[in-house]
Amino acid sequence: MDTALVIVTGKGGTGRTTVAAALGLAAAAEGRRTIVCEVAGQARVPALLGARRSARSVAPGVETPVADGLWATTIEPHTALEEWLAHQLPRRLIGPLARSGAFGGFVAAAPGARELVTIAKAWELGEQRRWRHGAAPYDTVILDAPASGHGLGLMRTPRTFADIARIGPIAGTARAVDAALTNPARSAVVAVALPGELVVSETLELERWIAERVGRGLNAIVVNSVWPRRISGADATRVAEADGALSAALRRAARAGSERVRTQQAQLARLRRDAHARVHTLPFVFTGMLESEQMHRFSARLAEV
Ligand SMILES: Nc1ncnc2c1ncn2[C@@H]1O[C@H](COP(=O)(O)OP(=O)(O)OP(=O)(O)O)[C@@H](O)[C@H]1O
Ligand SMILES: [Mg+2]
Repeated sequence: MDTALVIVTGKGGTGRTTVAAALGLAAAAEGRRTIVCEVAGQARVPALLGARRSARSVAPGVETPVADGLWATTIEPHTALEEWLAHQLPRRLIGPLARSGAFGGFVAAAPGARELVTIAKAWELGEQRRWRHGAAPYDTVILDAPASGHGLGLMRTPRTFADIARIGPIAGTARAVDAALTNPARSAVVAVALPGELVVSETLELERWIAERVGRGLNAIVVNSVWPRRISGADATRVAEADGALSAALRRAARAGSERVRTQQAQLARLRRDAHARVHTLPFVFTGMLESEQMHRFSARLAEV
């Protein structure tokens, strides 16, 4: 939590947005000015954190207050690129360039440009000298990054651009972002997983990839949606053998539940054994939609991450 930029990645659908929002609450609760960034047109965080209805539809690039000390934004590459250029170029050139459609051309045409602008924007939110004149920096920026492969691409792209561009403002920014991403004091990477065989294998693979291709480790793995151990193995056996006393359907349900807990615990143990990063867990919530109260409970559990 002391690091400025926290990147939350992991397999799709595992709970990255949920974890990013909960980490945002945890950082804000420590008194850090915090922002949670979504990408690719997503803007789910304000509602998840129980923000007032008026704060729920966040326009791209706008930093919306959602709770005490906590903001949310959706990074939009075009808007971010315009801000970056305005920061780099003399004012008289910005208007004509924006009207010429050159920004859109760059984002659409250059491979990796979208990713570069996205990660640079997340980094910029934590910089003392913000791109937008007068904007205050955040102490902690939490990026709800794309799923594993794309998330990894996002972390790699500054180095690629720094190598290609060599000199000039693109190289300068790309190098600064890469320096932050490879400095464990300035950034952290959190992978979200589920307690299943496939996701555990993919998470271990992601940890290897990040080490090889970004040159850093994962700081933490959050295994989400872990079933609680409601019923001990001995109780499960007793239920299964309670012939006649319980309906067959109930006995099957109890057996299936305890079997599921057992296989999840086995996968958790495998992850704890084979991963370098510390493994934390969040429970599966049976009550349907996750809401702000539950998010606060998650954030309290993640405060130690
Ligand atoms: N611990 C949990 N218990 C119950 N439901 C959960 C839990 N965590 C997340 N969910 C639900 O699972 C779904 C996926 O979670 P979330 O959107 O956070 O995942 P994601 O990795 O961001 O997904 P995507 O790849 O679509 O961006 C959501 O409907 C969310 O409410
Ligand atoms: Mg998501």
